[in-house]
Amino acid sequence: MKLFDVYPINEINITRAKGSYVWDDKDVKYLDMYGGHAVISIGHTNPHWVKRIEDQLNKIGFYSNSIQIPLQQQLAEKLGKISGKEEYQLFLCNSGAEANENALKLASFYNGRKKIIAFTKAFHGRTSLTVAATDNPNIVAPVNETDNIVFLPFNNEDTLQEYFNDQGKEISSVIIEGIQGVGGINIANDSFLQKIRSLCNEYNAVFIADSVQCGYGRSGKFFSQDYAGVKADIYSMAKGMGNGFPVGGIIIAPHIKPKHFMLGTTFGGNHLACAAALAVLEVIESENLMSNAQKVGEHLMNELKNITELQNVRGRGLMIGFDVPEELKELKKNLLFKYHIFTGEAKPNVIRLLPSLALTIEEADHFLKAIKEEIKNIISSSTLVNQE
Ligand SMILES: Cc1ncc(COP(=O)(O)O)c(C=O)c1O
Repeated sequence: MKLFDVYPINEINITRAKGSYVWDDKDVKYLDMYGGHAVISIGHTNPHWVKRIEDQLNKIGFYSNSIQIPLQQQLAEKLGKISGKEEYQLFLCNSGAEANENALKLASFYNGRKKIIAFTKAFHGRTSLTVAATDNPNIVAPVNETDNIVFLPFNNEDTLQEYFNDQGKEISSVIIEGIQGVGGINIANDSFLQKIRSLCNEYNAVFIADSVQCGYGRSGKFFSQDYAGVKADIYSMAKGMGNGFPVGGIIIAPHIKPKHFMLGTTFGGNHLACAAALAVLEVIESENLMSNAQKVGEHLMNELKNITELQNVRGRGLMIGFDVPEELKELKKNLLFKYHIFTGEAKPNVIRLLPSLALTIEEADHFLKAIKEEIKNIISSSTLVNQE
């Protein structure tokens, strides 16, 4: 049987990993500034994470949600404390799309409405509602198309206000990434998030903070929306939550009440996933990874801003993007194949940095040295070609 060929892949076979590094089958060592797509939060194969999963696996890996699973409550308590949202309620699932799908559905159960506001360049997942709320027609199948979702311009308060003036009583929820990831590292303005909060209050709509990529400490705060000083009604999370173990969830403000069978999942919140997620939070806490993300992120941003060839360096914590001009279009590929450094991208010309929150200043400097050297190489070889 062949694999269903949906991923354009690099011809690299990664076979082991430690911290911010991974190794291929020929024992070549790579610096991972991509974090396996923003998933590696506490570093690859963190020993505490490995041990907690191993110990749990030797006891029990899975049993259904029809019995008590005290690990779920332990996870909820720890998550409440670290995120500063102790009064919220936790529902566990398996992925980012599933988290957002449940958030949108729960909002509709809550206020009985159908309309959803999403924003230009948003990415919320590939399930039916989340893909419809994703601003990329190429991945929306005909069956996913719906009139229930409207896209408004990101960071435009006037348009949002006008839309609420017109349709406010029909709006079920507003979903927004605090920092757009796939869309190219675009930060939602604090005042825009505050505007969403006040309009949702006024019209009893649900504010959903998609924190799947920008959450879990990546921005230097637990949720990137925290920078705006407002609370969302539902936060979705996934990527960094399990450090590679598949686990997702939503946390839900207390005014949204649960009912039996309203939401559900077979695998969500299983023993093994909870052990992995608890290990992640324990390491974030014991190793102060949120402040590390802030410190190392600031260092990276400041240094990147000094590289005149790179444009619009932006981000928060260890979620950083910059535009690469046309003459440096080989940069990302060369960083990977010449310098053995993984980075992320966003179309058409953005390099995205999403490393482990445990990235050290020395590792950041290793990346900075390589990028400066490669920019010089590309420019000097293109000058040579032009002179010939
Ligand atoms: C902001 C955001 N939301 C949702 C998702 C979907 O997550 P998953 O791929 O785990 O379904 C992603 C994935 O990249 C994302 O970046």
